[in-house]
Amino acid sequence: MIKFTPTAQSKISSLDFDNIPFGQIFTDHLFQVDYINGEWVNPEISELKPIPVHPGNLAWHYGQSIFEGMKAFKNKDGEPVLFRPEEHIYRLNASAARMSMPEFPKDLFLEAVHSMVDIERAWIPPSKGSALYLRPVMVAMEEALGVRASKEYKMMIMTLPVGPYYPKPVSLVTEKKYVRAAMGGVGEAKTAGNYAASLLPAQKAKDAGFDQIMWLDAKEFKYVQEIGTMNIFFVVNDTVITPITNGTILKGITRKSAITILKDHGYKVEERLIDIQEIVDAYQAGTLKEAFGAGTAALTSNVHLIQHGDISMDLSQTENTVSNLVKNTLNDLRFGEIEDKYNWIVPVKSAVPV
Ligand code: COI
Repeated sequence: MIKFTPTAQSKISSLDFDNIPFGQIFTDHLFQVDYINGEWVNPEISELKPIPVHPGNLAWHYGQSIFEGMKAFKNKDGEPVLFRPEEHIYRLNASAARMSMPEFPKDLFLEAVHSMVDIERAWIPPSKGSALYLRPVMVAMEEALGVRASKEYKMMIMTLPVGPYYPKPVSLVTEKKYVRAAMGGVGEAKTAGNYAASLLPAQKAKDAGFDQIMWLDAKEFKYVQEIGTMNIFFVVNDTVITPITNGTILKGITRKSAITILKDHGYKVEERLIDIQEIVDAYQAGTLKEAFGAGTAALTSNVHLIQHGDISMDLSQTENTVSNLVKNTLNDLRFGEIEDKYNWIVPVKSAVPV
């Protein structure tokens, strides 16, 4: 049972629903629960505020930190709904296993997620490109400096009203020096270090005028992996291709949903190794119809340029038919405007007395 202590004063009056930057505005409450002596204890929802952390916290030194990104929406009747919440606890626990962290109980996760959205429902932005973003994060909490897995952890869930992550189409550049993930590494885990490793090359890409890096494999710098904030899709002729999740890329839930939607609409979708030269050849032959990213934060994001070495692939004139089909279908499902034959949309249940 989650203990709920409401904040004395909500901050919601300061929210401008027409101007919500991504990741800057936090709602009033935080879910937290501690892992001590092999058990998750004292789950509670209370005011979101800084938490005391010892300087010797193992997460700070050796990086045991994993997270999820998920979204809640208001449907056309104004009722809060979640998108595929169970998928997120499966992936969180896969990340936990890779990072030598304890499994988190599925039922407690779902109860916490439903409760947070229920409590913060007034913060859910009503417009289509917006959502209530949920950020579950599990971190080591033991203080010790030996290199080993922590014996104590904290799991938290914060919620944030968000607008689109990428309000405009993005430009991508491939990277020849740095890598995001190697086979056998932690590229498939949603762990902080993957993002930390991308920051320097991402800044260099920004300085060179690009929005994001399109990562290539760590061995041959040849096979496309992902964008870091999104999975990547290409449309070549009428076939949609996306890198196979072979251990170095994130198993995106939006990626998986997009594949289902596209197959359902009669597209041939191939999950396989994609040699970047194949994309260059398709571009030069005029058969590269579009490229887009897919992720929870970004939903789908159209790509207007891919730079690979000296080759600039200008996709600014494409119609983005496939990307728009995915985006519109996901939005329509979330808003209850089309039938949810996939059972992806889960109405929020009142879980704690508010
Ligand atoms: C998400 O899409 O939810 C992510 O976690 C990607 C990024 C914002 C870190």
